[in-house]
Amino acid sequence: MKILSVASEIFPLIKTGGLADVTGALPKVLEHLGCQTRTLVPGYPAVLSRIEEPRPVHFFSDLFGTPATLLEARHEGLDLLILDVPSLYDRQGGPYVGLDGQDYPDNWRRFSVLPYVASAVAGGLLPDWRPDLVHTHDWQTALTSVYMKFSDNAAAIPSVLTIHNLAFQGQFSAKLIREIGLPPEAMTVDCLEYYGDLCFLKGGIQTASAVTTVSPTYAREVLSTDLGMGLDGALLSRLRDFSGIVNGIDMEIWDPATDPYIPVNYDYKQIRLRQRNRAKLIDAFRLDNTPGPIFAAVTRLTWQKGADMLAEVADEICNLGGKLIILGQGSKDVERSLILAAGWRPGQIGVRIGYDEATAHLIHAGCDVMVQPSRFEPCGLTQLYALRYGAVPLVSRTGGLSETIIDANDAAMSARVATGFQFHPVTADNLRLAVHRAFHAYRDPKKWARLQNQGMKANFSWERSAEQYASLYARLIAEQKPVA
Ligand code: ADP
Ligand code: GLC
Repeated sequence: MKILSVASEIFPLIKTGGLADVTGALPKVLEHLGCQTRTLVPGYPAVLSRIEEPRPVHFFSDLFGTPATLLEARHEGLDLLILDVPSLYDRQGGPYVGLDGQDYPDNWRRFSVLPYVASAVAGGLLPDWRPDLVHTHDWQTALTSVYMKFSDNAAAIPSVLTIHNLAFQGQFSAKLIREIGLPPEAMTVDCLEYYGDLCFLKGGIQTASAVTTVSPTYAREVLSTDLGMGLDGALLSRLRDFSGIVNGIDMEIWDPATDPYIPVNYDYKQIRLRQRNRAKLIDAFRLDNTPGPIFAAVTRLTWQKGADMLAEVADEICNLGGKLIILGQGSKDVERSLILAAGWRPGQIGVRIGYDEATAHLIHAGCDVMVQPSRFEPCGLTQLYALRYGAVPLVSRTGGLSETIIDANDAAMSARVATGFQFHPVTADNLRLAVHRAFHAYRDPKKWARLQNQGMKANFSWERSAEQYASLYARLIAEQKPVA
């Protein structure tokens, strides 16, 4: 099967979160299942500066009013198509926001050009490669199946839309419909129209042959008004073709036995070696080298992630004799309150604002408890990396967190299946209570070692989930029936 994946980020070239981890890992596993994936990504500076020997495969003299080049390249096992549009992607900020932290005002154009070209590739733009199916991810590429629906050449090609986060929807003024090259017929309630606006994600939900999200629990949750973010109705209308497939992790990149970012490599048989990484971590954040568990979070500092609650429980962790390490960036308010907390507790709280891959790996290898108090979490990858690295996850019971971590209650402990701590409902008080439970378990070294061991042996490799994607692809290709 030939698959065109369309993504706004891909590890290791450009990453702001778990989306990149998924789009970077999945093609490599799918290859063993007979799926040849090419991934179409924007030509951001971070992408163009890292790829070697890109070859032009198509020139556009006027793509939505600007010249563009479609390039092909290979990079670390990934087969890429790169859309180089300097006027849209050659910017100094991140993939979605400028240096001022604000969304680029022309994101509507940046993320309609990419789907437009994806649809053209599906329709046979490249003479020697045409996909059997197109797989899109999140609002930034969701328009692909809308373009395909209105294209004579691509309408018969099946498509899958994976929703990694329903909170980001790509909502823009209806006036832009002409500028993005779609006919007025696309502006209907069963396509792009959403309360009088254009909603790119809704368009994808309504027109993709199948819609998935990144865990079965989140798939159930988004069908309710609570977590449906206004799109529960649209998802309910696609119920027959909607499912959850849990994310896996890249077992090579996130492997404590070979990880080049960490000072001392180890596996579950040599868990004692973690101590040496712990010492380095303490050094790196200039904390006191005293006993007591290190709680940590590597996360976007946003409402979704419950990052405000981390600041609220920081004192409690310190009073109980623990330490707290935070690596992240996001809401300025949360950043400020965490920096303030660190100022009050030098030697006990370490906060680094920013994005840093190497430090993220060191934290996983050296901390004792990885905290994720998310208010909602489609899947979550950090807790899976924590498991592999022998850090015990402490998570809220929502979305993917609830189905990937097994709470250390008595029954699960005696059945030897527990891997972490869960709390619910998501409030700072319940998080505090869970912190107390973690301290209690930490004081019992045998119990703690069992939790670590069970976590490290849990298998969250991509194989099972990739098989589910491959069989979904195969079924849709066999049916070859686009949504009318
Ligand atoms: P989300 O995609 O919602 O942010 P996930 O848990 O799925 O959450 O994925 C987050 C990914 O981003 C993980 O690979 C995590 O290690 C990484 N990450 C998040 N914040 C940072 C940071 N400040 N520095 C380095 N890596 C980070
Ligand atoms: C999103 C979600 C996260 C998920 C990731 C990858 O960013 O917030 O839960 O793990 O996508 O699918």
